[in-house]
This record gives sequence, C-alpha cells and structure tokens, in this order.
Amino acid sequence: MALIAPSLLAADFANLQEACEMLNRSQADWYHLDVMDGVFVPNISFGLPVISAIKKHARKTLDVHLMIVQPERYIKDFKAAGADILTVHYEASTHLHRSLQAIKAEGMQAGVALNPHTPVHLLKDVLHDIDLVCMMSVNPGFGGQKFIENTYNKVRELKALISETGSATRIEIDGGVTSKNAAQLIEAGADVLVAGSFVFNAADPEKTISDLKAI
Ligand code: DX5
Ligand code: ZN
Repeated sequence: MALIAPSLLAADFANLQEACEMLNRSQADWYHLDVMDGVFVPNISFGLPVISAIKKHARKTLDVHLMIVQPERYIKDFKAAGADILTVHYEASTHLHRSLQAIKAEGMQAGVALNPHTPVHLLKDVLHDIDLVCMMSVNPGFGGQKFIENTYNKVRELKALISETGSATRIEIDGGVTSKNAAQLIEAGADVLVAGSFVFNAADPEKTISDLKAI
C-alpha cells in the first residue's frame, strides 16, 4: 500500500486551515508542500511563512518540495518552519552530497527530486544518503499537467538500483497522478503518490484520498 501525499498547491489558499483539517481527518499520510521561486521554475507559489502557518494545523508529516535555486541556503529555515522531509532538486544542487548531509544534520529526512529528463543512474553514488527520491512525472512548476508515460520506466530502473545498492530509499511520484495511473505506478515500485489537482478539484477530496489509498 502506497503512502498518499496530497499537494496543497491545488488547495484554496484563502482557506488553508480548512484544507489542513480535511487532510488531518483523511487517510492522507503526508502533506506535500511545493515551494517555487520563479527562477528554478517559471512559477511562484509560497514560502516559509505559509509553511509555518500550515504547521500549526497539520497533524501529519510535512513533505516539503523545494523548486528553488541554491536550496542549501534555506535548510535551517525550512526546519524552523516545520519541515519533516526536505527535498532539493538534483538539477539545482552543485554539491548535492553536502546538502543531503546538512538536511540530515537538522534532523529531517533528505529527498532529491529528479526532472523528467534527468537519468536515474546519476543518483547511484548518493543513494545511501537519500531517504526519498521525488520522481517528477511532469515538468515542475505547475499543478494539473499531463502525466509523462516514461515515468514507469524510470521507476522500475530506480527500484532496481535501490535493491542493487541495498538502500532504504523510498520512491515518490509527483505530477499528474490519478486513480488511472496509481496502480501501475505502485506495481512499478512507487512508495509514495503525490496528488494535487486530482484530490483538491474532486467533488469529495476526502473520499478521493481514501480511494487512492485503497489502490
Ligand atoms: C509540480 C509540483 C507538484 C504538483 C502536483 O511542480 O511539484 O507537486 O502540485 O500537482 P498535480 O497532482 O495536479 O499534477
Ligand atoms: Zn511537488
């Protein structure tokens, strides 16, 4: 059974407390929080003050996905805001190993996100230091995009690399996840499914989360 991490990017930002209460009641496992800087990705979402505000209401793990340049500059700040898992992009990290150690030194789990064009094998030598690989199944920057089918191949490849190296890394899929591709993703080796618009645009988000969880 996969963990479900709804992305608040698709929630009503004027009613975030309500969204938090819904997620607390629901079968969601984590909150997925997308931080965008308008530089690494062509969109700006929200940052530290919003995460601190969410932390006051959230009763579940905060999984923070940084789509920002120089993420290493903000590791302590995101810890202070309440992040439990902190994910940096491979493509934004010149000194990835150092960033991963710094995230762990703050007592958080360390994640690495991969853009759709970035090969999985590039993680081989740091896999033991990674708690979570956030595999982008859309180009990062926006919710509601179409799922990229090549993701299944990348998940299978990463799963094999994880077994080969004997690491405990979890695989998270981010972008365009719906009830239509969830089963195939889990079968390929996904451990965590992020879902934004599929959950928050549904007539009954809480039930949509239970339905995903039951797959
Ligand atoms: C995209 C974000 C995703 C996004 C997913 O840049 O990283 O987490 O919120 O949204 P959906 O599920 O709508 O594709
Ligand atoms: Zn994300």
